[in-house]
Amino acid sequence: PSSAPPRVDADTLVLGIETSCDDTGAAVVTGDGRVLGEALASQVEIHERWGGVVPNLARDAHERAIDAVVAEALRRAGIDDPSRLSAVAVTVGPGLTMCLRVGVVAAQELSAKHALPIVPVHHMEAHALVARLAAGTTRCRFPFLALLVSGGHNQARSILSTLLILARGIGNYVILGSTLDDALGEAYDKTARLLGLNVGGGGGPALEALAREGDDASYKFPVPLRRRKDCDFSYAGLKTAVRLAIERDLGVGGEEDAATRRTRANIAASFQRVAVTHLTERTSRAVEWANDLLDDGETLSCVVVAGGVASNAVVRERLSEVASRCALPLVTPPPRWCVDNGVMVAWAGVERLALGLSEAPCTEAQVAASPSSANRRDVPTFPRWPLGERDDRATGHVKSAKTARIAAPLT
Ligand code: KG4
Ligand code: ZN
Repeated sequence: PSSAPPRVDADTLVLGIETSCDDTGAAVVTGDGRVLGEALASQVEIHERWGGVVPNLARDAHERAIDAVVAEALRRAGIDDPSRLSAVAVTVGPGLTMCLRVGVVAAQELSAKHALPIVPVHHMEAHALVARLAAGTTRCRFPFLALLVSGGHNQARSILSTLLILARGIGNYVILGSTLDDALGEAYDKTARLLGLNVGGGGGPALEALAREGDDASYKFPVPLRRRKDCDFSYAGLKTAVRLAIERDLGVGGEEDAATRRTRANIAASFQRVAVTHLTERTSRAVEWANDLLDDGETLSCVVVAGGVASNAVVRERLSEVASRCALPLVTPPPRWCVDNGVMVAWAGVERLALGLSEAPCTEAQVAASPSSANRRDVPTFPRWPLGERDDRATGHVKSAKTARIAAPLT
């Protein structure tokens, strides 16, 4: 990090690049939080037939898309000369290493060509911080509680993909709870597949649509972890209960008639009710835990719900009830900024740049050097990267720093 933080204002232009999983995203955001241009290439069709994200196919798709996506974001922002940018921010973890690299290499090339500082960004931090872009940094000021609900389709990201955090400042997060097994988005996707839904547009949205037709009290699936008075999550048991119900009441294959459609909708709605009840119970407790951690005179500004699953209307509705019971505003970024996107990375870049948390521009020689050469600037990707320290009361599974290849936080 450079010593004196640069001035970050309306003239600051940060390009953000996101390639950590299956979406190639880029956007330009100003220092005062105006989104000038955004572009996204989704890979859902590519991975659909494999039932999950296939890393090397994802990397190839990122490589095919990245230049056009960056060019599109710049074009929409009206930036014909990238030298006008103030910095390039890029997701460096957690995520699939080979996918992260595509974004990092693109950022390094732009950095070298146009003498731009690089701002390394944590994917989940970006999911949380985009709430401050959406709601404003006054309404969503530190400290706040954030529920981050994403997909976690890769091992590297699983435990980080369903999180409750106390956000105290940029790079300063206390993990109050995380998932012990599946991420919530993963549970949606797997349940959608078990219900035979076309997951082309993503399993979550398809399941949400089917659930709208069903009775959410028709199946009494157990709410997970009721006996554990902490803020961790578990979705594996619920997934199994749903699978058993599907096997019992729907069997495999078969024609869809009105009755089976109704059963499927009932299962979808009941799954969603329980999955979201679990979220609300953990979030209510997390507000109490967070309040206990605050210093005298400090108060939470709001409850943020972000990440892909936060685009779900039932999730937003039920969490708004939790927040109002706690007398806190609920902040949910617009759905397109909840799923993976370039805007959240650009904004996280703005916030970090303002604190001087950037790296010097790459040189052409560093970028041109072969990957094995000592002159090559390393591509520091962090496939597993904890967002912060775990609260003493949180019991969720964490691997040792060694096996998890944990990188030191950048701040
Ligand atoms: O944050 P995100 O875009 O990518 C990751 O970082 O994982 O989250 C993707 C996840 C997927 O599992 C997707 O099915 C889920 O978010 N999702 C939804 C909805 N939209 C996306 N889940 C439930 N309801 C939705 N409307
Ligand atoms: Zn994400």
